[in-house]
Amino acid sequence: MRTKLAAGNWKMNGSRAALTELDALAEPAKGPCEVLICPPATLISEAAGRVEGVAVGGQDCHSEASGAHTGDVAAAMLADAGASYVILGHSERRADHDEHDEDVRTKTLAAWDAGLKAIVCVGETLDEREANNTLDIIGGQLAGSIPDGATGHSLVVAYEPVWAIGTGKVPTTDQIGEVHDFIRARLERRFGEGVGRSVRILYGGSVKAKNAAEIFAVSNVDGALVGGASLKAEDFGPIIEALN
Ligand code: G3P
Repeated sequence: MRTKLAAGNWKMNGSRAALTELDALAEPAKGPCEVLICPPATLISEAAGRVEGVAVGGQDCHSEASGAHTGDVAAAMLADAGASYVILGHSERRADHDEHDEDVRTKTLAAWDAGLKAIVCVGETLDEREANNTLDIIGGQLAGSIPDGATGHSLVVAYEPVWAIGTGKVPTTDQIGEVHDFIRARLERRFGEGVGRSVRILYGGSVKAKNAAEIFAVSNVDGALVGGASLKAEDFGPIIEALN
């Protein structure tokens, strides 16, 4: 049985004052689903342990453990600040920082070395979907971005169609189900049925309180990676409740 996960990605938003939004998640966080907030790195240590039932994660890490990499953050530093998860290979990182599958794979290994759980993101662009290449793209990203040795404890996969992020456009439930079933099959084929069935697969892209229940009813959707609607407790709370 996979524990549902409601994960919030604050991206480059939020200040120390915004951490009061976490306090307001205390009630929904008492439910059975796991709740995670990934704030900017500057807020991790203050966010971690602040609210019972709200775990904290990073949004990226370097592939090396330490060294001369100005501006970067090592996985062990995230863990030291109180993070238990890290998002890797988000399409904004892939686009803005030219990250490729191999970068995501080495970062995932670094995250595991530091004891962090990796949320590896995959997703097609609109052009790729319109060219009927969605499953090929997702298959390639999974193969290239996820290292050998994944377990249901160390790995979460997030399916985020690039064209659905921050746009208000959401795939149909059939489209979401097709990709999530495909990801599950690929995980089972590569890692065996036991591990493949234990990895959680999140959907991300314009998840809101109003569409959450419908998305969560789709097969192999084990939760959500939420951007804009995770910034305010009044928006994120109902999404958590829809998963509880
Ligand atoms: O990582 C979450 C994300 O990319 C989705 O963003 O704002 O469409 O929920 P949003």
